[in-house]
Amino acid sequence: IQAEFEEGPLTGRRILVTSGPTHEPIDPVRYIANRSSGAQGTAIARALTALGAEVVFVTGPADAARPDRARIVEVETAQEMLEAVEGVMPVDAAVFAAAVADWRVDGASDSKIKKQAGALPTLGFKENPDILATVSQLKQGRPDLVVGFAAETDDVIAHATAKRDRKGCDWIVANDVSPETGIMGGSENAVTLISDEGAESWPRMGKDAVAEELAARIAKALAE
Ligand code: CTP
Ligand code: CA
Repeated sequence: IQAEFEEGPLTGRRILVTSGPTHEPIDPVRYIANRSSGAQGTAIARALTALGAEVVFVTGPADAARPDRARIVEVETAQEMLEAVEGVMPVDAAVFAAAVADWRVDGASDSKIKKQAGALPTLGFKENPDILATVSQLKQGRPDLVVGFAAETDDVIAHATAKRDRKGCDWIVANDVSPETGIMGGSENAVTLISDEGAESWPRMGKDAVAEELAARIAKALAE
């Protein structure tokens, strides 16, 4: 299907957005996952499309409706998300809004683990690939702009700045998900944009407004 692209500052630009949680199976009926509605990633995809970008939207199993006019790639696990991301490169910019599970179950079972009174299963874990770090550190074909997210508690700016350095992305969109902020699962977000110019805190606003502001910044950065 040929998507229809808007005319705008991002016309002719191809942008990857990852979104949603990943699900890591324990057995055919059980999984571990992060909490993520996919709302912020979806809003970012929509805002980029509205500015003319060709958006490839790689999403885990999220509740949010899929963005119109984006190319949708559905995945379940972190490993599948990495493969999908590698398959859509090269892109001009990449935004990693997915809440990727840090670990997968080592030796997930192909058959359902049956409950037995008094016998508790023990799960072992393996580390999942870091998709944002992998793309940020590409020697060839790295996107011009790589944007990560960081949901943090406590010293949000310090954690997010360290994360940006560690992963090698250009920007980190940090937010404070301490329970008292009420951000987690809500329709609003209060973010701080961390770049090589420092930390810039934006006022609390709707997730759509955050997405529009971020899309405008991306358009400006790619134009420079
Ligand atoms: N991310 C990713 N692949 C992973 C883990 C995270 O692409 N396996 C991306 C997320 O999409 C996000 C950023 O990396 O853009 C930061 O994710 P986060 O979970 O905050 O970072 P971690 O390095 O996993 O650190 P933490 O211990 O805080 O979970
Ligand atoms: Ca993590």
